[in-house]
Parts: sequence; structure tokens; C-alpha cells
Amino acid sequence: MGVQPIIKVRDVAYPRLQVPDLDIMEAWLQDFGMARAERRDDRLFVRGSGTAPYVHVIHQGAPAFLGFALEAASRSDLDRIADSEGFSPITIIDAPGGGCRTATRDPLGLEVEVVFGIEAVAARGSLDPRPLNMGEQFQRIGATQRIKSGPSRIKRFGHLALNVRDPATTLAWYHARFGLLASDRVNVAPGMPVAIFTRCDRGTEPTDHHTMLFASDMASGGVSGLNHLSWEVCDIDDVHVGREHLAAKGRTHEWGIGRHLLGSQVFDYWRDPWGHIHEHWTDGDQFDASVAAGDHSIDIGAVSQWGPNMPATFGRTIAPKTA
Ligand SMILES: [Fe+2]
Repeated sequence: MGVQPIIKVRDVAYPRLQVPDLDIMEAWLQDFGMARAERRDDRLFVRGSGTAPYVHVIHQGAPAFLGFALEAASRSDLDRIADSEGFSPITIIDAPGGGCRTATRDPLGLEVEVVFGIEAVAARGSLDPRPLNMGEQFQRIGATQRIKSGPSRIKRFGHLALNVRDPATTLAWYHARFGLLASDRVNVAPGMPVAIFTRCDRGTEPTDHHTMLFASDMASGGVSGLNHLSWEVCDIDDVHVGREHLAAKGRTHEWGIGRHLLGSQVFDYWRDPWGHIHEHWTDGDQFDASVAAGDHSIDIGAVSQWGPNMPATFGRTIAPKTA
């Protein structure tokens, strides 16, 4: 891409959803692996097990995906993007951990915040992956493997996927402002991507294969907006025990467990009570900025290397029918 971006963001920080009942959503998020950071009359901040003071913000109101936050690499980057056309003046974030923010609207009309200086908190327990004895690599000698049942240990907010009219022009918008790079494109014809997996440009420092995924809204009946939200868990056992916990609570499963092809994550997808899709994943690919974008035909076939087939409902927010 020839355009020099205004800044290069480091990561995503949190999404913002809006739902009519914060109590019902909080109970669901606890089953998913999150804990209350702060509750106010009109909003809820929840954290995972990691060092972010919150990884999800829930507002009270009609069901909606409001937007999300990207993390600037420095205060000077925050200043630079805030001075750019279409961005709001910098304000202090009224949320746990403080920090500063600016915001704009993306081509879909979502609020895109850029944040910096949110203070980390102590992790809730260990985030270490469990030691494994596999192949010739025995990490656990003289000790047992005992998995505590319960919700997944959520390390961080990892990525989000959006359904958009045109993935290529959407990426051009995000690249010009935030430096997002294409990791893999799935093309319906040469030069016509129907999905683009994009990552942050951290130079020589590796980062997740995808931080944002832009998918053509052809697959979602022409409806743009949220495809899914995704949190990284600590290891593969967390994907499995988290699944068992959600199932035991009678939550609505969407797709998994499987291993994706592009990005390679082991994944499991669940629907919240208003039909938004939330993902648990672990063991994704790490690319630095030198890795060239891959181009794949849509005939690449499986979106996963193993696991159940993708359901036809995947990638769309489907509100449950009310009696
Ligand atoms: Fe995902």
C-alpha cells in the first residue's frame, strides 16, 4: 500500500456493545470468563484475567454494536491522530484505568476510538499456559495435570470482524489512519477480495495474524456491521473448559471447537442473549511487518482445518425470537 499511515496502532483495546439489560449481560459475560470491573447505572465495564482494567464495555439501550477502541503506540501518536481531520479533541477517559482518547466514525458509522495511557492492573491469577507432555518435549515432570472446571481464563481482547460493503476500500481507510496491514486476502476473482485479514504494523515485533477482519457483507445478506468479537484465552484447555462451562449454563453455542486455516487459531464461538457472536481462541499465528500478504482463491475451501463445518448463521448478529 503506497499511502503512509498517520499512525500505526499497537492493538485493539475493547469493543462497546449496547444491550437492554445489563444484569442479564453481566451474567452471560461471567459465564464467558469475564468479571465486573465497574458497574454504573448506564454501563458496565468487565475485565478478563489479564492486566487490562477492562476488555469489554456494555452500555444500556437498544441492542447495538457501538464501536471499539484501538491502542496508540505513544502519546505523540495519539496527539497526531487527534489533530487529523475527522477526529475529536483529546479527552480523559472516564473509565477504570483512565487514559486519554480521541474518536472518529469509520465508513460504517461505527465510533472508532484511539486510546493511550490506560493503566494496567494486576492479573487475576496465573495467565501461564499449562505445561504439556507431548512429542519429545516433556514440560511436566513429577507433576499432574489437573484442570479446574469453570469459565475460560481470558487473557485479552484480541480482534474483531466486521461485515462491510467493500473489504478493500475499508482496509484502505483503516490503513491510511491506523497502519493496518493485510495478512491474508480471500479473493472471489483476482484483485477482488471478499475477506481481508489485517494486522497491526509493529515493525520487527511480531503481532497477531489478525486484529481486524473485513468480510464482504454479501455473506450476511447485505447487512453491514458486527461479524464477531474475539478474546484470547490462555491455552487450549481454556477453550475446552470454557465451552463446558457455557454449555452447562445453557448458553447458545454457534461454532467450534475447530482450528482456523487463516490465522491458525483454535476457536470456539458463542452467542450472547442478543445474538452477538463472541469468540474464545488460542494458539494463533504471530507475524511481524515483513510478512507479505497472502492471496487465496475463495476455493481455498475450509475456513477451518479441523472441527465442525461453519454454520450458515455464522457472522451475523441474530436476535433471539421473543415470545
Ligand atoms: Fe475470530
